[in-house]
This record gives sequence, C-alpha cells and structure tokens, in this order.
Amino acid sequence: MELINRPRRLRRSDTVRRLCRETRLSPDALIYPIFVDEALTGVRPIESLPGQNHYGPDSVCEAVEDCLAHGVTHCILFGLPKEKDACGSSAWAERGVIQEAIRAIKAKYPDFYVITDVCMCEYTDHGHCGILRGHDVDNDETLTVLARTALSHAAAGADMVAPSDMMDGRVAAIREVLDGAGYQHVPILAYSAKYASAFYGPFRAAAGSAPSFGDRKSYQMDPHNRKEALLECELDIAEGADLIMVKPALSYLDVIRECADRFDLPLCAYSVSGEYAMIKSASAAGLVDERRIMCETALSVFRAGANMLITYYAKELADAIRAGEIG
Ligand code: PBG
Repeated sequence: MELINRPRRLRRSDTVRRLCRETRLSPDALIYPIFVDEALTGVRPIESLPGQNHYGPDSVCEAVEDCLAHGVTHCILFGLPKEKDACGSSAWAERGVIQEAIRAIKAKYPDFYVITDVCMCEYTDHGHCGILRGHDVDNDETLTVLARTALSHAAAGADMVAPSDMMDGRVAAIREVLDGAGYQHVPILAYSAKYASAFYGPFRAAAGSAPSFGDRKSYQMDPHNRKEALLECELDIAEGADLIMVKPALSYLDVIRECADRFDLPLCAYSVSGEYAMIKSASAAGLVDERRIMCETALSVFRAGANMLITYYAKELADAIRAGEIG
C-alpha cells in the first residue's frame, strides 16, 4: 500500500501525541468562583452545586488556601449580602460582604488575584441586575450604581472588576469612575457576550439571585444570535474593556471561536453552574467518567479559542493538568 499521508504516525505513542498537541492548558489560565455569604460563620456546602461551598467572611481565606494548594492563583468573588433593597445598596457598602472579603484575602495573600463580579442581582430585593422603573430595568440609572460598586471593589483592593449585568454603556461608566478616583491600573473584564441562559439555574439557587418576576431576556442576549455577540464585544472594546468574555461556554463554542478570531483582547470563557451540575449529576448516576468529561469539556473551550476559563472545576483541572491527564 503506497499511502503517502498517514496521520496515524503522529498518534503512535503518548510521547509523540504530547509533542504534536495543538492546544495546551495551564493552571495559570484558570479562575475559581468563590461565594461569600455575609450571614455565615464558617463553611457550608452549596446544595445546588455539589462539591462547592459558601464561605463566611471569617473563612474566605480557607477557600484561597485551598486554591493555592491546587496551584490556582485567580478567583472571582460573588457575594450574598445580609440586606437587600430595591437599588441594591449593599453592593457598594464600605463594609459590604465583597469589600470585606477582598480586604481579608489581600491582608493574608496579597499576590492571590482577586476579580470581582459587578452586578446588582444578588443585592436587589427583586433579583434583577439593575434599578427598576416599573417592571423594566432602567439602563442609565443602573450605570451609576454599577460604577459605584466597581469603585468600592477597587478601593477595597480588587485586582480586576468584571461587570456581568449586560447594561449598555457600563464599561465606559465604570472606566470613567475608576480613572477619576485613581484606579487607572484596574482592568475591566467585560462579560460581553452573556446569554439569557437556562444554564445559570444552580448559581441563582446558590447566590439567591433569581429574579422575583419575569426573566433577564431584556438585558442578557438571545441564544439565537451570533452577530449580536460580536457587536457586544466591539462595543465593550470601544468603551475600554481590557478583556472580553463569552458565557456560558459549552453551548457557545462557536461564539468563542469567532470572538477569538475577530478580537485581539484576551478572551475569557465561563463554564457556568449548569454545565458543572450536568457533569456532576451524570457522573453521580454512574453514566460518565467525571474526570475525563471535566477534562474534555475544558479542553473544548480552550480549543475553541478561549485564553482563560472561569470554572467550578478549577482546582481539579489544575491537578489533572499537572498529572498529565490533559495537556
Ligand atoms: C450575575 C451572574 C450570574 C452568573 C454570573 N454572574 C447569574 C445570572 O446572570 O443570572 C451565573 C454564573 C453561573 O451560572 O455559574 N448576574
């Protein structure tokens, strides 16, 4: 048989397969979500996210130590405040749950990289991501509170802020307020293409942030759309975003690929709570091999073009990368 091309030559051994890999992963590219509950002392497992915990402000450093033990050096913080009101004022409180968590982490682990989620839904009593006018989220009113919240995070020592609200113009509003207060060095990671997805269910149960009426379709993106994602990224970049994000990850790999090809900014993807919960429950039912599915799905996100990944599996993935289970 005179075959000239035999791609199998490069698949003959683990050593040559490793040599020829097109996608390489690193623990450096992983970001771990940490939930801080102001009303909690100690650590409590999250029912909707098996394997994940709520941390009281007193014990948030335990989450960090755990990350560091696995070689994960970046986190994104989510807060559950004691008090909620119509405009979400505890989101920017000087002694708010996130502000205190940042201070606690930075006092002990100044080099651990702290990103904060900037949104109103965990802080408003109606659970929407901004200030309401009637039953509608008022875009421009919301920009003021988002910018105030981002500023309070930066002032407490956050390394990076990540607006996830999907209001128009929020990156520019946040940039202006940060710069005006001397925080020119704090980057903005924009949740640029954030879809109105059913995959956020377990997170909303964990964060107590489900909307009390209606849904988020008037601000988060329609899953039917692709070009709209490109527009959202373009606008965020024009407004001064330093990094862009596509969220969720697994059902939007096409969008990740296109954003990676089109834009030069670092691209983040978020493997959201529903993606994690599906793997957890399928493996708990004995239907799939959790470890291999975890690796393969994370790999697909990087192969699609993401440069970094927010994932509830960050610690296990870092272990798997180091152990050579994934490249
Ligand atoms: C806040 C926010 C949400 C998530 C991240 N930031 C929930 C939402 O938009 O309803 C979801 C993350 C996940 O599901 O893991 N707006």
